[in-house]
Amino acid sequence: MDFNIALLKGDGIGPEIVDSAVAVLDKVAAKYGHKFTFTPYLAGGCAIDATGIPLPEETVKACQASDSVLLGAVGGPKWDTLPGHLRPEKALLGVRHALGLYTNIRPAKIYPALKGASPLRPDIIDNGVDIVMIRELTGGIYFGERGRRQGAGGEEAFDTECYSEMEVERIARVAFETARKRGHVVTSIDKANVLESSRLWREVVHRVAKDYPDCECVDMLVDNAAMQLVKNPSQFDVVVTSNMFGDILSDESSQITGSIGMLASASLGDTKCGMYEPIHGSAPDIAGQNKANPIATILSAAMMFRYSFDLEDEAVCIEKAVDDVLEAGYRTADILGSSDTKPLSCTEMTKVILDYIK
Ligand code: IPM
Ligand code: MG
Repeated sequence: MDFNIALLKGDGIGPEIVDSAVAVLDKVAAKYGHKFTFTPYLAGGCAIDATGIPLPEETVKACQASDSVLLGAVGGPKWDTLPGHLRPEKALLGVRHALGLYTNIRPAKIYPALKGASPLRPDIIDNGVDIVMIRELTGGIYFGERGRRQGAGGEEAFDTECYSEMEVERIARVAFETARKRGHVVTSIDKANVLESSRLWREVVHRVAKDYPDCECVDMLVDNAAMQLVKNPSQFDVVVTSNMFGDILSDESSQITGSIGMLASASLGDTKCGMYEPIHGSAPDIAGQNKANPIATILSAAMMFRYSFDLEDEAVCIEKAVDDVLEAGYRTADILGSSDTKPLSCTEMTKVILDYIK
């Protein structure tokens, strides 16, 4: 098969890790008889520097016309003082919105070889951790009404959390369909003891749950969820939650697995065209130094094969290569254990993974 991929390399370590994933996609394509055409487009800080805005129309059109989008990371201190609508992060939000990518899938699992990298005690993770976090991605407070106004206490600022039944129902269905193929438990995380939007969320999730009698549906308040994730992470199978809670809790789960440098994500809508990106940011502190861990982006490429192209063997081939490389003891700096010696650079780790894709 032939695929056209829009590359949004972005800022910081973005270009380094996207190059790694492209090399892996090409290698797997050659092995299985596919052909990728990659075209880079501007998004984020680099787009601001070149055009004055974070997400040029050309980039949006190209993403819409592509078979899928591979993104590195956007943002950096250079653009931190710009007003909200001109920040690099707007590029990410803009693509999610323009492509209707309302589902964000963020798997967090502990690799047996990396158990030592988890900050949790061995007895807490002994039963394994394998969570699929499903984050609603085009609604809630990220896209609600916001603004500033004058009030009695001086200037006021507000952001609003708003969810419709339709938005909750479609993400809940994704969660239950996912659970059906795994452990059959969906934990829905909200703040229904305080927020009206969470009460609607809970009602709709319960309604959808009736269509999945083979799955258990557990409600959990977000503050408790933050606690349970470090106390007993093995209890989670599929987690479904709102845009902001998902943002926060997916970073927390990534730390449980050892490093945010390992976690991939897929953003999907109603078409096959998705956006694939590591969940970490642009890491300006190590940008351009060839130190970044490319694994999160490489695993995102595996998710692209699985979710956009329905090519499971190709996805598993990449995931297995990563497993084998970790089992063999190869490490980048972020996943270096106390007994390991010299960490691999980004390009060295990429090369080892390519070698393991036979
Ligand atoms: C993420 C990031 C983004 C988000 C930022 C960069 C806008 O933190 O993908 O988790 O909050 O969604
Ligand atoms: Mg985040």
